Amino acid sequence: MLISISLLLTFCKLSLAQQVIPLNTLIGNNFENKIDVTPPFSLYVSAQMDSDFNLNNIYVKTMDNQIKSLKDLRHSRQHAESGPISPFQATSQTLITTNLSNGTLALMNGFIYVTTSKQSTDQSFRVYSVDNINTIKINGNVDGNCTIVFLNTDSRILPAHSSLFTKWQQPRDATVKMYKGYPTDVLEKNSTQIFSNPVLATGKLLYIPTVETFAVTLGIFYMKTTNDVYFQVDSRNIDFNGYSTQNYQTTGFFMKSKEVVGHNVTINCLRDTRFNGTTGANIMGYMPTKYGKVTVQTNDNTFADSFTVTPVDGILGGSVDKIGKNMTISSVDTDGGEFFVQYYVVQGEQISSTYAPGEPTPPTYESTTKGVKNSKLMLVVGILFLSILSL
Ligand SMILES: *[C@@H]1O[C@H](CO)[C@@H](O)[C@H](O)[C@H]1NC(C)=O
Ligand SMILES: *[C@@H]1O[C@H](CO)[C@@H](O)[C@H](O)[C@H]1NC(C)=O
Ligand SMILES: *[C@@H]1O[C@H](CO)[C@@H](O)[C@H](O)[C@H]1NC(C)=O
Ligand SMILES: *[C@@H]1O[C@H](CO)[C@@H](O)[C@H](O)[C@H]1NC(C)=O
Ligand SMILES: *[C@@H]1O[C@H](CO)[C@@H](O)[C@H](O)[C@H]1NC(C)=O
Ligand SMILES: *[C@@H]1O[C@H](CO)[C@@H](O)[C@H](O)[C@H]1NC(C)=O
Ligand SMILES: *[C@@H]1O[C@H](CO)[C@@H](O)[C@H](O)[C@H]1NC(C)=O
Repeated sequence: MLISISLLLTFCKLSLAQQVIPLNTLIGNNFENKIDVTPPFSLYVSAQMDSDFNLNNIYVKTMDNQIKSLKDLRHSRQHAESGPISPFQATSQTLITTNLSNGTLALMNGFIYVTTSKQSTDQSFRVYSVDNINTIKINGNVDGNCTIVFLNTDSRILPAHSSLFTKWQQPRDATVKMYKGYPTDVLEKNSTQIFSNPVLATGKLLYIPTVETFAVTLGIFYMKTTNDVYFQVDSRNIDFNGYSTQNYQTTGFFMKSKEVVGHNVTINCLRDTRFNGTTGANIMGYMPTKYGKVTVQTNDNTFADSFTVTPVDGILGGSVDKIGKNMTISSVDTDGGEFFVQYYVVQGEQISSTYAPGEPTPPTYESTTKGVKNSKLMLVVGILFLSILSL
């Protein structure tokens, strides 16, 4: 019960802008619910928990006589089972009507998402419903700089609205920034992304080739990309307590939504004890009281170093010049609040020829320091090339 009340509150707040219209705020019995956005716009439906029967009795109608049921809109995809959802393109004043009762509508969980006019004509604007596995492959040359909006109304598994990102691949020249909510026509404020790659690590932007599996538990959020990006996303969650990172230089993400109670997770860090390095995180969020805090602690047999922040609406970074056996992300007094933690582990230089005593020999991966050296080398070659050109 608590969960659904706070969900309702989250959505009600959004609906003031009239861009996310929860179905449970519609008026029934054939009332004409006007969409208070100037056409043209695109309209999308996310209603994973609502019945076909109910959705089939809710209509979107325009003054120029387009009419579609929400059931048709929910299932409209350009390709059969995955890929972006096709919008309902509204070119005149649009109404939503239904012969369902207020009482039936009040029990619905889905929402209607309405874009701005500019977004409705943008070829690089895509909307995905996170239900079955969506493979998202952006080709920067063809698709341009994309805005990708994710809608998730699936609450069969808890935490609800969970979108699991896997198999991430991103070349060095690509940028991804992820934000909560929906995009407007105004550029985002600096440092308001909940996740990014390159990541802001100890004051510098750092590209990290490996992105760990992570989950976002929000009904609506979006990503802005430049160049190529590949990943899969589906409505699952995994227990991140006990999760093990996959590379020596890596980044991942952990969040708590308003609807769930805070819990602590310990993530095992793949590391090579012959190298030094840095463990850090960028944290943002909203805390219900001044006592709400998030701590990231790097643990090893001989040390436990941490940093603590009170999350605010822009990222605050912290780091420790060590890579421990594991890292604990913990929080206190965050009930009703939300926070987003992007963590990263960056291997530094080789400082020893032998492994720490009692440490298993780690699997061999291409050393990330080698990668860094290569890129420096490429830069040098690039500068040389430029100077030759300028001669
Ligand atoms: C609501 O409309 C549908 C057709 O859109 C119709 O089949 C159904 O009987 C109507 N229900 C009521 C209660 O009027
Ligand atoms: C449905 O809700 C609206 C808005 O709260 C109200 O004006 C209307 O009378 C309700 N309809 C019925 C049949 O209760
Ligand atoms: C894509 O974004 C990059 C970085 O912001 C910018 O340099 C480039 O001009 C953009 N490309 C297009 C087609 O807008
Ligand atoms: C955001 O950061 C960029 C790069 O550091 C800077 O050029 C720009 O002025 C900043 N914008 C705002 C609104 O602070
Ligand atoms: C999380 O860790 C903090 C700090 O160690 C502790 O105070 C808190 O009780 C823990 N929370 C849970 C849910 O275990
Ligand atoms: C790693 O060791 C090198 C060489 O001693 C040093 O310059 C560097 O600052 C160290 N890095 C970290 C993160 O401690
Ligand atoms: C994390 O590492 C510390 C130090 O090695 C160890 O004591 C602790 O049991 C580890 N925690 C988990 C959950 O693995």
